[in-house]
Amino acid sequence: MSSAQELTTKARTVRPTAYGSPDVLEIVSMPIPEPAAGQVVVQVRAAGVNPIDWKLYSGAFHEVDDEHQDSAGLADDLPRLGLECAGVVTAIGDDVRAFEVGDEVIVYPVTGAYADYVTAPATSLIPKPADLGWPEAGSLMLAGTTAVHALHAAGVGEGDTLLVHGGAGGVGSVVVQLATAAGATVIATAGAHNHELLRELGAIPVTYGAGLLDRVRAASPGPVTAAIDCAGGDEALDTSLELVADRQRIASIVAGDRHVVAGIKALGYGPGQDAGTELRESARADLASRAVELRILIDTVYPLAEAARAHRAGIAGHAPGKLVLVP
Ligand SMILES: NC(=O)c1ccc[n+]([C@@H]2O[C@H](COP(=O)([O-])OP(=O)(O)OC[C@H]3O[C@@H](n4cnc5c(N)ncnc54)[C@H](OP(=O)(O)O)[C@@H]3O)[C@@H](O)[C@H]2O)c1
Repeated sequence: MSSAQELTTKARTVRPTAYGSPDVLEIVSMPIPEPAAGQVVVQVRAAGVNPIDWKLYSGAFHEVDDEHQDSAGLADDLPRLGLECAGVVTAIGDDVRAFEVGDEVIVYPVTGAYADYVTAPATSLIPKPADLGWPEAGSLMLAGTTAVHALHAAGVGEGDTLLVHGGAGGVGSVVVQLATAAGATVIATAGAHNHELLRELGAIPVTYGAGLLDRVRAASPGPVTAAIDCAGGDEALDTSLELVADRQRIASIVAGDRHVVAGIKALGYGPGQDAGTELRESARADLASRAVELRILIDTVYPLAEAARAHRAGIAGHAPGKLVLVP
């Protein structure tokens, strides 16, 4: 094949070469994929970065030994990165009726979105609102659907006083906005650098750390009726248990064994947790239609080749808003 042909048939993807830190990420070429029946191929314009992306290759979820390596020495179960993106449909498989080549779409859920092109089932596509930016469209869904799930699990509505742990993060900032829009009073924790942002989103900001319980009590206009934990750790759990009378109105998206034992709503993919798959998938269309009125906070947009830099920023843990990759 000539180099000119290679340019038109090759694309790039980011992959981990081993389990470990972001140092293991490399950019490699791949063929532009072909869609099978029921699938589409999307040229990626923006891919959202989420904490699960670096957790997947951190080794935290896998024990890898030498026998699980392929001929190139790579562990055979290394994950494909990128669980959401937005882009333009470039090819459709048989039986796909709802989308056409050229459509601008949000793609979620998907795997392998850290790439120039990604293949997805047509059922993962949502039309992109024309006035929604690419970075926002590419990073809205994973955090947004998680926020909807958490609010549903905790039963948040008009008249509630909701405590949100980690209110300035990707998920927390959507929880705050949807809860205030639903008529709840929201108290949200963040570092001092994010307090003005939380006020702009409609929340009463409180600094996390030692003494949190007293600060929330002092800030709250009345009893705290529900809590959503987007931060994790004992401090957030203990504070929620102390303040919220009904444990079924405490939800955590960063739950461990202690959360399950405590009888709160543990949301996610671990043992005893609720993944909420149907609820999250059915929330996508409504989120897309409300996306322009929501503030989808974008912290930094990185070129695809700088995925490792984006992951180091994410691991540092205090980015106000989403990290995004653009091919
Ligand atoms: N279960 C699920 O389905 C699910 C889905 C999505 C995400 N998650 C998990 O949920 C967590 C949050 O995800 P994300 O995308 O929102 O992350 P993110 O955008 O990186 O936000 C993390 C936020 O946590 C805040 N924070 C750090 N330490 C804190 C503490 N001790 N107390 C309170 N807040 C603290 C930071 O705010 P400051 O800058 O103000 O410190 C930051 O804004 C991650 O662990 C992720 O893996 C789970």
